Amino acid sequence: MNSQSDKNLSHDSLNELITDIEQSHHVFTRTELNRIADLLDDIKLKSLPIAHKFEHYFMELQADLLPHLMKEEHILFPYIRELEKDPKHLPGSCFGSVSNPIRMMKTEHVNVMYLLEKLRELTANYTPTPDTDADVSALYSAMARLDADLEEHIRREDSVLFPRAIQLESEMTAQTEAISADA
Ligand SMILES: [Fe+2]
Ligand SMILES: [Fe+2]
Repeated sequence: MNSQSDKNLSHDSLNELITDIEQSHHVFTRTELNRIADLLDDIKLKSLPIAHKFEHYFMELQADLLPHLMKEEHILFPYIRELEKDPKHLPGSCFGSVSNPIRMMKTEHVNVMYLLEKLRELTANYTPTPDTDADVSALYSAMARLDADLEEHIRREDSVLFPRAIQLESEMTAQTEAISADA
């Protein structure tokens, strides 16, 4: 997505932005992880040499991503929605400032990007050769689509959603402190 689109996104509410991330990227990620796991099962049955190493990184990617999506959907995103709903009252949380879960999510994003890098290296950027098995080619194109979507997904969270949530919370904290000082 280019900077013009990001400009447009900054006019969306945080709630709209989160809904869009969940309905596009989160749904797509879960569907594609399942589809790629099925394709990988077919390749393992044929004992193709790529299967073992690909499976190693892919299983790690899946094991990182599924709980990551859950934590965003059940802990971080509901808190951000609450922040926006009532700008006069900071919602209660079990994690202190929103910066804490965001720091954790960003660390997990770095690990996802590392695993994608490993999968790209292993597959020459998901590029089949003329003698590549048809199932492996299908695996590469599915993984290339998931890779591109994850890159965009992570960029929207790291560069648009998270900074806006941190800014909103810090403005609300400053307001609350000013009101307490006046009282
Ligand atoms: Fe996400
Ligand atoms: Fe994320």
